[in-house]
Amino acid sequence: MQTIRHLDPLKKMVNMLHGAGRRIALVPTMGALHAGHMALVTQAKAIADDVIVSIFVNPIQFGPNEDLSRYPRQEAQDAALLADAGITGLWLPGVDVMYPQGFATTISVAKLGDGLCGAARPGHFDGVATVVAKLLTQVQPDIAVFGEKDWQQLAVIRRMVCDLDLGVEIMGAPIVRDNDGLALSSRNAYLSRDERSAALSLPRTLQTALAQIEGGAAIAPALAHAKTTLLQAGFASVDYVALVDATSLETLEMLDREARILGAARMGSTRLIDNFPVRFKK
Ligand code: PAJ
Repeated sequence: MQTIRHLDPLKKMVNMLHGAGRRIALVPTMGALHAGHMALVTQAKAIADDVIVSIFVNPIQFGPNEDLSRYPRQEAQDAALLADAGITGLWLPGVDVMYPQGFATTISVAKLGDGLCGAARPGHFDGVATVVAKLLTQVQPDIAVFGEKDWQQLAVIRRMVCDLDLGVEIMGAPIVRDNDGLALSSRNAYLSRDERSAALSLPRTLQTALAQIEGGAAIAPALAHAKTTLLQAGFASVDYVALVDATSLETLEMLDREARILGAARMGSTRLIDNFPVRFKK
């Protein structure tokens, strides 16, 4: 595995691989790697000749009062995991490489990036879209793999890649969960033991609402009840529990198409998100 921190050697590696006719998959991450990230790497390895993983804690996707300064950073441990996984390249740009002095461009995906997490985190998806556009341009992969854990992020990226003719295949990968059902997240490291066990109510409550809705229950009361349940279980606040069109993320009042139930809530100061597919019978 080659670790690369600057654009010139990255270009050299990518040109060499493309010149040899090899298919490149990119897995973008912010590091603090866990089994959810590694599942993306495994999926990428299965569909490409070479995998490049990027680790970059992207400052422009964090709000002013968010966790940028305390976001977990464990570069050596991450690099060892990735070397064991047999990837070809680890792309580790510094902030000065990604955003040199004078950097002034923002990519904003209207509507898809505005609601849900975008409403609670203004500017977040502009930061995500901008850095992902840059990563795709830098690495020139044939395929890029993203987790369904961040369902809205995946929808925003698909839209951007289509709108900007970026010509890369975007592949979604299923959510990896702990044995008890909590979705793996780098931010789970912030949770105390008690918070960690109370946090389980997020997937459980979403699944209960999902079962009710699939069973024909009225949607608005099922979602409202889910919010109350999360607050009772110890979440400090609930940003949203929503049933949306799986692609457009439009709020659904009736289960009449492919849908997703999504939730975001704060356990102490830690913001957790989760989502599940909702079966729709024609
Ligand atoms: P990060 O939170 O590090 O996640 C990197 C990738 O891993 C994302 O595609 C995310 O959806 C996926 N992922 C995280 N937890 C997962 C889980 N439990 N199961 C499956 N996939 C999981 O998402 C980001 O970084 C950033 O926004 C990024 C896209 C890198 C842009 O900065």
